[in-house]
Amino acid sequence: MIELAIVVPTYNERPNVGELVRRLAEALAGIEWEVVFVDDDSPDGTAEEVRALARRERRVRCLQRLGRRGLSRAVIEGVLSTSAPVIAVMDADLQHEEAVLPRMLERLGDEASSDVDIVVATRYAPGGGHEGWDEGRARMSRLATALAHRIVRTGITDPMSGFFVVRRRVFEAAMRRLSGEGYKLLLDLLASLPAPARVAEMPYRFRPRQAGESKLDSAVLWEFTLLLLDKRIGRWIPARFVLFSLVGASGVLVHFAVLSVAYRVEQLPFGLAQALATLVAMTTNYALNNSLTYRDQRHRGLGWLRGLLTFYAICGLGVVANVGVANALFDRQGWLLAAAAGALVGTVWNYAASRAVTWRKKS
Ligand code: GDD
Ligand code: MN
Repeated sequence: MIELAIVVPTYNERPNVGELVRRLAEALAGIEWEVVFVDDDSPDGTAEEVRALARRERRVRCLQRLGRRGLSRAVIEGVLSTSAPVIAVMDADLQHEEAVLPRMLERLGDEASSDVDIVVATRYAPGGGHEGWDEGRARMSRLATALAHRIVRTGITDPMSGFFVVRRRVFEAAMRRLSGEGYKLLLDLLASLPAPARVAEMPYRFRPRQAGESKLDSAVLWEFTLLLLDKRIGRWIPARFVLFSLVGASGVLVHFAVLSVAYRVEQLPFGLAQALATLVAMTTNYALNNSLTYRDQRHRGLGWLRGLLTFYAICGLGVVANVGVANALFDRQGWLLAAAAGALVGTVWNYAASRAVTWRKKS
């Protein structure tokens, strides 16, 4: 009977997976386990390597995803692909100390008699830490952790950990509410549970990466910020809509700045100055939304231009909607309310349409 599944997300980890399986086998002697590698079609051929391992060792499985990226969602699919009653989540790059796993399982204990549902391996408890981190990376990590504490109020020392053990039943209670964005599945899980989880911690030392490179870049940090925002305000209003509206407000400033220069200083005809201001504001709005609001799926190169053209078209229709609504309300509601309603309808349209077309999810 299977007792434990280790779910390991991979992207370009070919040199690490064999060693990880070897170490798991050593650490988990006496336990019925399997390991599910969830690979997002890594160009380095990680999936082929995993399948080669799986042909020799039936505990190894490969789940290859095509045309998609994303650490959290990869792990979620990995969990759904196994029937094990207990799930461990860990990285492929040997940074997470596999020797701590048996202790985590022991702490989790039997469902019937245990007082915990999740055991988190932590870097920030006595006995834990990270090896070979420079001060900059350590500071970033502390900052993100503090932010996470403020927003999700977890009470655990390492809510950003990518190394934890959870009962399947607990995962299932949360799985339909998970946002799945970004790479902080543990935070997502804790914030999505209907009742507060019973969590224990286990210190470990985060090791330096042996081979390959970290995939956590600024886009990932940005996703994390969005995830936190979404957990905080997403119930009432999508975090992206808030950002989109803020960018829109900056566009109004840009518009008036360009208009006053073109019309007052350069003495262009008003219609021309107005058209120029609109074009510039739409372009800065697009650029800002592309690098902030939709940073995780931003367009580059030719795709950037293509996105810009769709954005122009959408905003053009948005103006029509804005003016139409304002005109319809003008007689009965007065100019202020009519203008506000027009702007709101225009913004919602721009948001919804650009989300569906300009920044359509590829998955
Ligand atoms: N399937 C899939 N898809 N896997 C991915 C993706 C992706 O888009 N991006 C990264 N991975 C895999 C990597 O191959 C690795 O096995 C694991 O996810 C973590 O990625 P790293 O790039 O090594 O992240 P890190 O070392 O900077 O941070 C990790 O450790 C921290 C401390 O526990 C992450 O697990 C963090 O979430 C965690 O805070
Ligand atoms: Mn890593």
